[in-house]
Amino acid sequence: MTGISYDRATAEQYRLAREVPRAGLAAWQAAIEEAAGLAPGTTVLDVGAGTGGFAAALHDWFGVHVVAVEPAEAMRALIPVVPVTAGGSGIEALDGRADALPVPDGSADAAWLGSVLHHIPDLPAAARELRRALKPGAPVLIRNLFPGRAERDLRVRFFPETAAVVDGYPTVDRVCADFATAGFEPRELAAIPQESAPGLGQYADLLRRDTDTKLRALSDEEFARGMARLRAADPAEPAVSWMDLLVLA
Ligand SMILES: C[S@@+](CC[C@H](N)C(=O)[O-])C[C@H]1O[C@@H](n2cnc3c(N)ncnc32)[C@H](O)[C@@H]1O
Repeated sequence: MTGISYDRATAEQYRLAREVPRAGLAAWQAAIEEAAGLAPGTTVLDVGAGTGGFAAALHDWFGVHVVAVEPAEAMRALIPVVPVTAGGSGIEALDGRADALPVPDGSADAAWLGSVLHHIPDLPAAARELRRALKPGAPVLIRNLFPGRAERDLRVRFFPETAAVVDGYPTVDRVCADFATAGFEPRELAAIPQESAPGLGQYADLLRRDTDTKLRALSDEEFARGMARLRAADPAEPAVSWMDLLVLA
């Protein structure tokens, strides 16, 4: 599954509709800190960085040097590049793919793959490339929906037909098996909440079908029914969605 071809307009929409507000990511910050203990000045590869929402968050939270690798030029153009300081923190944005990372061997202390697994055509090749790029023992942090574990995602809650799309994503077992071929072992799997908007009303206002492979897969009728369900819900209910953090090393 590759999904969307990102032009400038779609990339702008992605940034507005899909980047989770920083205030809604507190549980993710804590989970990443516990799983990876990223020290200031260390290097994190953000693979499939999109418009750089997480690249900026990782940089700001942990003072790391984020190498944001993103193949779509329109998405890459929106990554907020920060010059690398003497202390080694900063954000670079580079063209590349999960199976062709533009970095030297053994140069990164961790890798971050956010909502990108299902876009990668050859996971074993990506795992081999990560093995090459990472230092020995460095963790791969994967934030994704997985088949059978997505019922607390807001899109699945209000647009239940999207569960069938998630069923086509790589399973946890598949990912672990593919990464095992490159010497990675699973360390942790946990569901983590995020607050996508202060209320479901604002979440509905921000939703953009074109920025999401799951919503694009729906028929017009399915999408309209889902929007009606969302509009009928309490607009003040916090828009809390859950995704998994899978850590391998
Ligand atoms: C759903 S977006 C996620 C962006 C960002 N990581 C986030 O969490 O907001 C998926 C991104 O993966 C990129 N992508 C697609 N195929 C890829 C590949 N083979 N390797 C790396 N990134 C890829 C897309 O261009 C897109 O920007």
